[in-house]
Amino acid sequence: MEVKTSLLDNMIGVGDMVLLEPLSEDSFIENLRKRFDHNEIYTYIGSVVISMNPYRSLPIFTPEKVEEYRNRNFYELSPHIYALADEAYRSLRDQDKDQCILITGESGAGKTEASKLVMSYVAAVCGKGQEVNKVKEQLLQSNPVLEAFGNAKTVRNDNSSRFGKYMDIEFDFKGDPLGGVISNYLLEKSRVVKQPRGERNFHIFYQLLSGASDDTLKKLKLDRDYSKYNYLSLDSAVVNGLDDAANFRTVKNAMQIVGFMEDEVQSVLELVAAVLKLGDIEFKPESRCNGSDESRIKDKNDLKEMCELLGIEQSVLERAFSYRTVEARLEKVSTTLNVAQAYYARDALAKNLYSRLFSWLVTRINESIKAQTKARHKVMGVLDIYGFEIFEDNSFEQFIINYCNEKLQQIFIELTLREEQEEYVREGIEWTNIEYFNNAIICDLIENHQNGILAMLDEECLRPGTVTDETFLDKLNTICAEHQHFESRLSKNSKFLTDHSLPHNCFRIQHYAGKVLYRVEGFVDKNNDLLYRDLSQAMYKANHSLIKQLFPEGNPGKVNLKRPPTAGFQFRASVGTLMKNLQTKNPNYIRCIKPNDKKASHIFTDSLVCHQVRYLGLMENVRVRRAGYAFRQAYEPCLERYKMLCKRTWPHWRGPAREGVEVLMADLPVPAEEFSFGRSKIFIRNPRTLFFLEERRRQCLQDLATLIQKIYRGWKCRSHFLLLKKSQIVVAAWYRRYAQEKKYQKIKSATTVVQSYTRGWQARKLLRELKYQKRCEEAVTTISAFWHGTQVRREYRKFFRANAGKKIYDFTIQRIMQKYFLGLKSTMPSMSPIDKSWPARPYRFLDGVHRELPRIFHLWRCKKYRSQFTEEKKAVYEEKLEASEIFKDKKALYPSSVSQPFKGDYLEISTNPKYQKLNSAVDEKVLLADVVNKINRANGKGTARIFLLTKKSVVLADQKTGQVKASVPLPDLASVSVSTQSDGFFALRLKEGSASAVKGDFLLSSEHLIEIITKLHRTGATAADSKQLNVDISDEFLVQFKHDKVCVKFIQGAPKNGNSVSCKRKNNRLLEVSVPTTA
Ligand SMILES: Nc1ncnc2c1ncn2[C@@H]1O[C@H](COP(=O)(O)OP(=O)(O)OP(=O)(O)O)[C@@H](O)[C@H]1O
Ligand SMILES: [Mg+2]
Repeated sequence: MEVKTSLLDNMIGVGDMVLLEPLSEDSFIENLRKRFDHNEIYTYIGSVVISMNPYRSLPIFTPEKVEEYRNRNFYELSPHIYALADEAYRSLRDQDKDQCILITGESGAGKTEASKLVMSYVAAVCGKGQEVNKVKEQLLQSNPVLEAFGNAKTVRNDNSSRFGKYMDIEFDFKGDPLGGVISNYLLEKSRVVKQPRGERNFHIFYQLLSGASDDTLKKLKLDRDYSKYNYLSLDSAVVNGLDDAANFRTVKNAMQIVGFMEDEVQSVLELVAAVLKLGDIEFKPESRCNGSDESRIKDKNDLKEMCELLGIEQSVLERAFSYRTVEARLEKVSTTLNVAQAYYARDALAKNLYSRLFSWLVTRINESIKAQTKARHKVMGVLDIYGFEIFEDNSFEQFIINYCNEKLQQIFIELTLREEQEEYVREGIEWTNIEYFNNAIICDLIENHQNGILAMLDEECLRPGTVTDETFLDKLNTICAEHQHFESRLSKNSKFLTDHSLPHNCFRIQHYAGKVLYRVEGFVDKNNDLLYRDLSQAMYKANHSLIKQLFPEGNPGKVNLKRPPTAGFQFRASVGTLMKNLQTKNPNYIRCIKPNDKKASHIFTDSLVCHQVRYLGLMENVRVRRAGYAFRQAYEPCLERYKMLCKRTWPHWRGPAREGVEVLMADLPVPAEEFSFGRSKIFIRNPRTLFFLEERRRQCLQDLATLIQKIYRGWKCRSHFLLLKKSQIVVAAWYRRYAQEKKYQKIKSATTVVQSYTRGWQARKLLRELKYQKRCEEAVTTISAFWHGTQVRREYRKFFRANAGKKIYDFTIQRIMQKYFLGLKSTMPSMSPIDKSWPARPYRFLDGVHRELPRIFHLWRCKKYRSQFTEEKKAVYEEKLEASEIFKDKKALYPSSVSQPFKGDYLEISTNPKYQKLNSAVDEKVLLADVVNKINRANGKGTARIFLLTKKSVVLADQKTGQVKASVPLPDLASVSVSTQSDGFFALRLKEGSASAVKGDFLLSSEHLIEIITKLHRTGATAADSKQLNVDISDEFLVQFKHDKVCVKFIQGAPKNGNSVSCKRKNNRLLEVSVPTTA
């Protein structure tokens, strides 16, 4: 195992008092002072830790420190409370040894703080997990609750524990906390009713008044004003650096974490309030007729409020404060209480109420923190108990406390010696008897069952008859007079008769830590600790569950006439149990020392420390520890630490460590009786020897350091030099490379320039040659081409002249025509016969084709058009064709008729009933029926006549009557005459000699002239058997009327005549028809 550090490293003073040389009280205190001045508050005496109160926070309780001390050997690091806690925890966990940590010291020395440090260290290093953390938290949070109720400000300590506390923390096999049990010892209950000057009552009273909400205070019937309460001292109600209000919140929170229910917290606060109220109840004397003095309550308001708080009937409590009932066997005697007795009763009730509440709190906390499993536990006990007390005025409490410390010293001696002895046996070292003072004799003086001081006090308290503190002292004087640790003025020991430092009402005990003078006043009373039965019964009657629980003896059903055990008896019993408990465990000691009385940091009062060193028996401690061998160390760390002192063990020892140490020690000039070799440790008798080893080691280390430094420096310089050299080479290499590169670049570029010039010159030369060569080649080629061409032309001339031109021409024409025809395919005009469009011709030489093709296309298109005609339509078009043949370009009227269809029957002769008669008169089918004007030869005026044309004849009938006026068979018609103008006049000229010619020719005018003449021409042709009817078209023709021939002449009419055609008789032989000029 490699040990890197040791307690002996960087030691300020001596870290372990066992090593102190020379050992004297002065050197002891000087060592403590030296260390204290350097903030080294912890010093060892072997495995005991001396703790000086620094009165300020030091940075040595950080999580980093916890880690530093975790799993390290006790002597490995500088002294620390964590080292002790770690050692205890590890041997509990790993070696299955129950541990107890005994913390002693006077008030204000730092016991409670030390116990909290131990607990917090253990909490930090033990296992983790939800359940474990809850247990830890509950255990840690029990402290603020108990401190609020059990601590108070005293002149010596602002947070003085006014009770003794022993807490067993239980762990499972893995070292995880399971729970705990707290035992409390002797609460200083007198403080509830009275506090010495400059001190306060228990913290909770002040915390409640300053920290509770207005609402809570109202419920508790309290006022925030401390001055209202007699039980609260006012001169030091406010303590510097103590925030009561904040602490109250902490306490409430802690109670909740520990597991107190809401109503339980409320009940506790009610009881605290009740105690305060109780203090305000005052009495006044009242004389009775029988002469005796009686007490009366002055102001019942406080009593009333208190009774309301606790649910007690006011009259019951009032009576309990006025009377005292004494029961003896079957008798019951009531006596009245005077004012002094009433006040005594009130204060006794307050003290009892509070101390019982405190005990209940401890029980309740125990219930919460109790381990849940029944499995076997490992236990670590932490005892934070009042230290030895030597005041100017020492009473029953100091006696009890000092008795407890005597017992602790005894167990310390017993266990330390036992351990020492066991170690010697274990290590096979010869046991030499150790001289030490055994204080069993003092313990016996106090606790002996027959004639011990406590037994005698009990006897006095129980004895019938007048019992006073003086009678008790007398008894002591007679019984303990011979005891060598007991002194009193009246003891038979005559030497004290003249000792004026020993007053008459006092006795002195020579404790192991010094002589203490006790004043007997109050011993009997305090031991009796009486509460009148009337009061306990009144309390039991309260309608308040907690109060009822606290006063079980008040139950009238369980009246116990036996006196309750005395305070001394109870304490002795509980100390006995504690001692038995501690004896089964492995002890770890923390001895707390306070450096000054001013609660100030940096002040070290020699006399005060000396006093504590004495009564804590620390010198005794060191002596016991040094009685055999002052120092011991396992072989491995010892060899590791001192191997440099011997050449054979340095730097490495290959064999077993023990042999190494033996070789080492043999090599050193140390007398053989100075050390012994145990099984696993070397034991060094005198600290001197150890310091000699240490000194040699220091020198050796210096030499080694110098050697290491030398080697290191050499190595460093050489490495530096090598590095420089290497760097220089690298730099030089880089530089050379760079310079060469530059040079090379220069040469390269110069070469390139020269090269380029040379190549250029060569290339140009070559180019010139090549160009010349090429020109020669071209010339040759041209000459040969010309020569060749001439030859070929000469040979082929004959073939070219005959055919080539025509063939090319034909081919070209063919291609052009082909292209033209193919192009026409896509640009042909529409199939409408009236569409005159035709694509433009591309070449002039196509003129003929271009003219002929539209004509052919038109004819073909017309033929196509005609082929679609029906018979009727065909007849119509034939008529129209005939009309065109007769009149086109001959008569001006013709063009306007082209668009008019030839209807034929304009009168609807067959269907119209008006012409029914006429229709029936005509045999043949009527081809044309129209109204015409028959021109009167006499005046040229027209008369309307119906004109009918059948296949055989022309019929003229009266328009109105339908009577046939004339019927001319078609063969009788010679010709028809019409003008060239746009008029509708026509003359039907009859064949001379025919039957019809008798009446003369007819001069008619019609709007449908062209149709009438065309139809007449067609019908006449068929009727006259292929002999056509002539149509004369001329502007002057003769008409044979009945008797004479008249010339009808057509002239262009002046515009003034309007648009109508007028016919006038000019003379007998001339009818003049004036036709308007056509535009
Ligand atoms: N290790 C420490 N570091 C800092 N301050 C400390 C330390 N130990 C004690 N103190 C200071 O000293 C005061 C008194 O300590 P503590 O209450 O532990 O004394 P005590 O020995 O328990 O006294 P009592 O017997 O009156 O209960 C503490 O309130 C704290 O201010
Ligand atoms: Mg304390």
